[in-house]
Amino acid sequence: MGKVISFINYKGGVGKTTTTYHIGCALALFHNKKVLLIDADPQTNLTFSCVLPERWEIFKKDNGTIAKVFESYLKDSFDTYPIDNIIWKSPLELFAHGKIMKDAVKNIDLIPSDIDLLGVDIDLAAKTWRKIESGFFQEQLHIIRQTFKRTKEAFGFDSSCDIRDALFYAEQRHILKRAIHTIKENYDYILIDCPPNLYLVTQNALAASDFYVITTIPDHMSTIGINILMRKIRELNTMMNTKCQLTGTKSNNITLKGIVFTMVRIFGQGIVGTHKDKMNELCRNYGDLCFENHISWGAGYTESSALAVPVFLVDEENARRVSAQYQEVTNEFLRKVEGM
Ligand SMILES: Nc1ncnc2c1ncn2[C@@H]1O[C@H](COP(=O)(O)OP(=O)(O)OP(=O)(O)O)[C@@H](O)[C@H]1O
Ligand SMILES: [Mg+2]
Repeated sequence: MGKVISFINYKGGVGKTTTTYHIGCALALFHNKKVLLIDADPQTNLTFSCVLPERWEIFKKDNGTIAKVFESYLKDSFDTYPIDNIIWKSPLELFAHGKIMKDAVKNIDLIPSDIDLLGVDIDLAAKTWRKIESGFFQEQLHIIRQTFKRTKEAFGFDSSCDIRDALFYAEQRHILKRAIHTIKENYDYILIDCPPNLYLVTQNALAASDFYVITTIPDHMSTIGINILMRKIRELNTMMNTKCQLTGTKSNNITLKGIVFTMVRIFGQGIVGTHKDKMNELCRNYGDLCFENHISWGAGYTESSALAVPVFLVDEENARRVSAQYQEVTNEFLRKVEGM
């Protein structure tokens, strides 16, 4: 069964997408893992790291994107979206020696994103209520009320309204998890690139995950929200577990697997003082959770993203220089996640 991992920090521009992409590609290229990348950000950056916009336009028209999963939930019923429709198999292509090398990274598939995901967040908040009001959950609620007549003693709920709220909370956040459930066994890793917010699509990504990894620039503004993020995820775990207790299903706790420092500034032979201080502070606070290997700021990423391939596949000096770092971070990621 594939492990699902969200890359997150609700601060923007801290290397979430670049890290999701390069760890995903390194797992496929150097560790022979079967990887599914999920772009959960309407900015569509992970998608455009994999494919050029012209090819995405066609895929989007013919197949759709991740937005479909949520739109179908909002429109239709409890039915799980047929996720295979929107999985783009081996989308990466490499242009080399004057020709396109198909399937540059065979072991990577992609669920692309698009701007429609922005509207989904608003609709999820507004429309799921209507489903409840219209009796969408009535049957489920009835069973739960029957089973747990003494809800107050069992779960600390004062009234069936509390149960309804708990169910509602979980339902709104379970859409992606349900949709990818059937394909988890097809992959070793499913990596989700989260947007820089904590709205409902992001919470769906987290709820679908076994683990999460925080990426951050080691500076004040990028790290200030880490505590809040961790608290929010603890709340999410508690609420999800409550729903699992109510419905008798298996619960899972989303666990932090590590903090990766990105865009670390180097001067001369060492890390600049302010970045070094912040890294030391976080290591004191979070211990082994901080990755020992970091990603320094470097030219090379811009060139590779313009070609829609990872730095490992770009035959250019800057890209060659930086590519070893993501390989090291990926090795460490594997040690943390697989205990290797
Ligand atoms: N190590 C690096 N050195 C230099 N530039 C980098 C590095 N990592 C990422 N970048 C560039 O910095 C920008 C932001 O990176 P990225 O898109 O990965 O951040 P993000 O956290 O996903 O942003 P957002 O919050 O907007 O989704 C991108 O233009 C990317 O190419
Ligand atoms: Mg991003």
